[in-house]
Amino acid sequence: MKWTFASLDEEALANLGRKLSTYVKAGVVFSLSGKLGSGKTTLARAIIRNACNGVGDIPSPTFNLVQSYEVFTGFEIWHLDLYRLNSIEEAMMLGLEEALIEHCCIIEWPGLIKQIIPHHSIHIQLDFQDINSSSLSDQRIITIKTSDPIMASFDGL
Ligand SMILES: Nc1ncnc2c1ncn2[C@@H]1O[C@H](COP(=O)(O)OP(=O)(O)OP(=O)(O)O)[C@@H](O)[C@H]1O
Ligand SMILES: [Mg+2]
Repeated sequence: MKWTFASLDEEALANLGRKLSTYVKAGVVFSLSGKLGSGKTTLARAIIRNACNGVGDIPSPTFNLVQSYEVFTGFEIWHLDLYRLNSIEEAMMLGLEEALIEHCCIIEWPGLIKQIIPHHSIHIQLDFQDINSSSLSDQRIITIKTSDPIMASFDGL
């Protein structure tokens, strides 16, 4: 399954995150790829905010690699930013292999851990609409690809 959405401003991206939050379940993996500032954290925040009622601050896990949120007892959202990950072993030490099964993972910069990301992950590519621009006030093109049957009911924006 594949969906492409063009001309998304920040509000539209947050709205997409709200829709994607309904697919937050243990074992579901959102893999977010795109350049610096493309909106990965913005999208992750929208997913987390809508999946976790009353959650407070949602800091970017830039330095501590992972930030976790309780959805309900026994099940968490793990928000990971692996830009500063040095090795796949470091991800293992975080307990990522177990988390991919027991929790819902939202992973920014998944490149280094590609080999342990499940095939059924929800792959989301974020691109600047204007390829000549890296400006932070811009529209985005979002491409979602997945074989996870949970997304069969997804009807877009
Ligand atoms: N349409 C848009 N979608 C998402 N963010 C937007 C949009 N337009 C402007 N922005 C701005 O772009 C920035 C996106 O930053 P964000 O931290 O979400 O990117 P990121 O992909 O997580 O970056 P990094 O690679 O550093 O983790 C924010 O400052 C946000 O306000
Ligand atoms: Mg980020």
